[in-house]
Amino acid sequence: MGLRNRWVIGNWKMNGSLAGNAALLGAVAAAPSGVGKLGVCVPFPYLGQAQSALAGGAVVWGGQDVSEHASGAYTGQVSAAMLVEFGASLVLVGHSERRQYNAETSDLVARKASAALNAGVTPVICVGETLAERDAGRAEAVVGQQLQACTDVLQRSQGAAIVAYEPVWAIGTGKTATPAEAQAMHAFIRATLRVLGAEADATSILYGGSVKAGNARELFSQADIDGGLIGGASLVATDFLAIAAA
Ligand code: PGA
Repeated sequence: MGLRNRWVIGNWKMNGSLAGNAALLGAVAAAPSGVGKLGVCVPFPYLGQAQSALAGGAVVWGGQDVSEHASGAYTGQVSAAMLVEFGASLVLVGHSERRQYNAETSDLVARKASAALNAGVTPVICVGETLAERDAGRAEAVVGQQLQACTDVLQRSQGAAIVAYEPVWAIGTGKTATPAEAQAMHAFIRATLRVLGAEADATSILYGGSVKAGNARELFSQADIDGGLIGGASLVATDFLAIAAA
């Protein structure tokens, strides 16, 4: 059963270089241990570098996507078993940028989450509504459907799968959901997990979307927000570590 851990996970997206990563990973590896867990999701070519820099420490690493397939003729894809070979313990699935630019459906996201779970890699299932959906009063319906597609994996993971709520309108825009808006959606997500038969009280639900050192503490102090998924600010060691400290 999951323990509803507090998490701060960095999502580097398509950023980095061997030289730049070395400094960033070194700083992250030296982070003081706190109440929560720290992780970084790096581009695939840098998994080995993350493993070398972080192995044996408290910070975990992972990928930003995974194939639904185990192996075979799937050019460009990376399997969960390959992630495991590089010591990855996390993988993002269904990030809104993949839903948007790679036309990933919620059913595909569920199959990817399942492939990760089967290989022993914790899926971080990303959900969130667009601004148009929010303005149309459909935010909960959209997020509810995204979660429902993952019912099987959420049940089987017994609280180990992580859910990340990232309103699309808040990602990389500098617009953050207010703590009250975020808390309301997180409470809805936890209630939905309960309805779906998942271990809602054991599941970590992270907020993502323009989290910065200056707004992290108030967001993370909300009852149903168990930490954050951090994009831009995860690329600057001092910012990422300040968020982790919050
Ligand atoms: P952001 O990205 O922190 O840069 O808004 C968050 C994410 O996309 O995971």
